[in-house]
Amino acid sequence: MTQSTATMADTQASLEAVIKGEVLRMYQEVADKPEGEFHFYHGREAAEMFGYDPEWLDRAPAGAVASFAGVGNPHARSDLQPGEVVLDLGSGAGLDGIIASWQVGSTGKVIGVDLNPAMCLKAQAHAEATGTTIECHEGRMEQIPLPDDSVDAIISNGVINLSFRKRRVIQEMFRVLKPGGRISITDIVSARQLAQSIVNDPKLWAS
Ligand SMILES: C[S@@+](CC[C@H](N)C(=O)[O-])C[C@H]1O[C@@H](n2cnc3c(N)ncnc32)[C@H](O)[C@@H]1O
Repeated sequence: MTQSTATMADTQASLEAVIKGEVLRMYQEVADKPEGEFHFYHGREAAEMFGYDPEWLDRAPAGAVASFAGVGNPHARSDLQPGEVVLDLGSGAGLDGIIASWQVGSTGKVIGVDLNPAMCLKAQAHAEATGTTIECHEGRMEQIPLPDDSVDAIISNGVINLSFRKRRVIQEMFRVLKPGGRISITDIVSARQLAQSIVNDPKLWAS
């Protein structure tokens, strides 16, 4: 490795660490103080805008709805069936996982994975409050803490854009999916190259 590639790798590692800290802080804040000001849509207003069934939002715990921070509606095409095992990647406060758990029923299972253990605890508590279950694992989408070929479907909402290693995330998703498994994700993509000032701003990356 030359000195300049070593320096670039160091810069990338330190930016990645700062972004991870900002991601943890930002979504913890949405979960703890959903009534606060954020420069992205969240809560019931966002979910209704993305076409979530109002009956789901009435039925789910108020805390899970208020802290919803997705960017679209992964349920529109997930076609989840009773008995399926579903992974909710970056499960947050749990709204998407709870909706998935209603679809797969008591013979199925929803497994959440989240970087932030406090979010996992919130998602599990919110699920319990509606009489359903989410099994949430603390972990990173870049190294999903599940065995190969173990899930029927993956849902995710506004999470993959937060990763520094998106190719790695996709590889991991295919590793844990059973043959013939399905992916239904909503996320943010840009058709244009973003300015470096945006790319290097941890607050913008995290939101
Ligand atoms: C946009 S929210 C998810 C919204 C969620 N689907 C809902 O129903 O509200 C983003 C979540 O992804 C988690 N996250 C961010 N980076 C992650 C990573 N590298 N691996 C796993 N989870 C991550 C955050 O901790 C946060 O809880």
